[in-house]
Amino acid sequence: MSQPTSSGSGAKPARELFGTKWGFVLAAVGSAVGLGNMWRFSYVAAEGGGAAFVILYIAMVALLGIPLMLCELVVGRKTHLSPIGALRELGGKRWATLGMLFVLVGFLILSYYSVIAGWTLRFAVESALTGFPGEPGAHFTEIASGRGAVMWHLLFMALTISIVMVGVQKGIERAAMILMPTLFLIVLGLAAWATTLPGAGAGYAFYLQPDLGQLLDPGVISQAVAQAFFSLSLGMGAMLTFASYLSKDTDLNQEAVTISFADFLVAFTSGLVVFPVMFALGLQDAVTESTVGALFIALPGAFEAMGGVGRIVGVLFFVALAVGAITSAISLLEVVTSSIIDEFGISRRNAAVGMGILIALFGLLSANSLDILGLVDQFAGELFLAVGALGMSIFVGWFMKDPITELARGASPGFQAVIPTALVLVRYVLPPVIAVVVWFQIVATIEVVRVTFGGG
Ligand code: PFF
Repeated sequence: MSQPTSSGSGAKPARELFGTKWGFVLAAVGSAVGLGNMWRFSYVAAEGGGAAFVILYIAMVALLGIPLMLCELVVGRKTHLSPIGALRELGGKRWATLGMLFVLVGFLILSYYSVIAGWTLRFAVESALTGFPGEPGAHFTEIASGRGAVMWHLLFMALTISIVMVGVQKGIERAAMILMPTLFLIVLGLAAWATTLPGAGAGYAFYLQPDLGQLLDPGVISQAVAQAFFSLSLGMGAMLTFASYLSKDTDLNQEAVTISFADFLVAFTSGLVVFPVMFALGLQDAVTESTVGALFIALPGAFEAMGGVGRIVGVLFFVALAVGAITSAISLLEVVTSSIIDEFGISRRNAAVGMGILIALFGLLSANSLDILGLVDQFAGELFLAVGALGMSIFVGWFMKDPITELARGASPGFQAVIPTALVLVRYVLPPVIAVVVWFQIVATIEVVRVTFGGG
């Protein structure tokens, strides 16, 4: 499947495909593994009761995440088109609107994701050169918004654009093949090191001993679902877009399980680094204090307090985080870029650079105000993702013609047997459950808007 081929449906232009099976898997895992795993997962898990949240999260990934990922993969591979065209081809003009929502969400998420990624990149570079800051709180306030944040955000966007504009095989696939194994190795190494910390036990205990009372809290369940979608890059067409570069003979079911498992593994292993470090230094409250507290204030503080070893470990941690961020950002820009290429017939280079610049400019708002960053995250990263996921499950469950045949193509006998069950989940379980999540997100969004604009 290494040669660019036509999609096989007559009039469509030739489409570049992933060169290898691992190329696709690593690119998709690269999309999934990012700030969501190494930053968001830890604090959402801490807020949700530690181990209880982890159990819930696994259940939500299996029950909702994997079926929803199958929905995206099946639409992408069947059409070999980016989201707008794919949904138009299979569902007509009305469903193309859902594809447009995906493009908008990709645009919005990347605009602030890149700002946070910029902080990460800055920590990686500056701590390697000069060590971690002595006063992490004050330091974070200084770098979080304003001129510095703008510069690192623009640098990060430039890196992302430079990879996406090169193409699927030479840009996206090659970057993933190099960066993802690097990230896995670093995270595993860090987790091994964390076992040697005196006092780490309390961190493990918090992370691994469930408080089962939390399992039935609807707010926590909704958080687990939202985290699963964000972490697996679902609800905005990223997996759909990558699957559009897949040849017909891949087993989508196998890929969905592999991607979800790898994503969970990195999130879980990151927790095995974050919690022991925090508890070893008595910083546990910082994990839940605020959304950014865990990583960008407490962790640098912890690394600083650990002296020379802390510096090495800390640099590696932020390098891994920056690597995760860039492979995720690539997929966000790819959703927008591929749609522009398909809809307007312009070159990849122009589409990637043009849209990348627009996103970078819009991101200046988030780079100058943490309030705006939080607001855009709430709308795009939480509410719109849930709406997109709802739309996708309804489309594949109720409107797409014969998704089973497409899912069964290339599937092993074991997976063939469970495909009908997956479809039952997509039809009857996903829409009502995701609708509840959308409702929770609407309430949360109103609250965020009220706090941001109402001053209290
Ligand atoms: N999955 C990424 C993360 O966990 O950081 C974030 C993300 C990337 C969300 C791509 C959505 C997306 F389409």
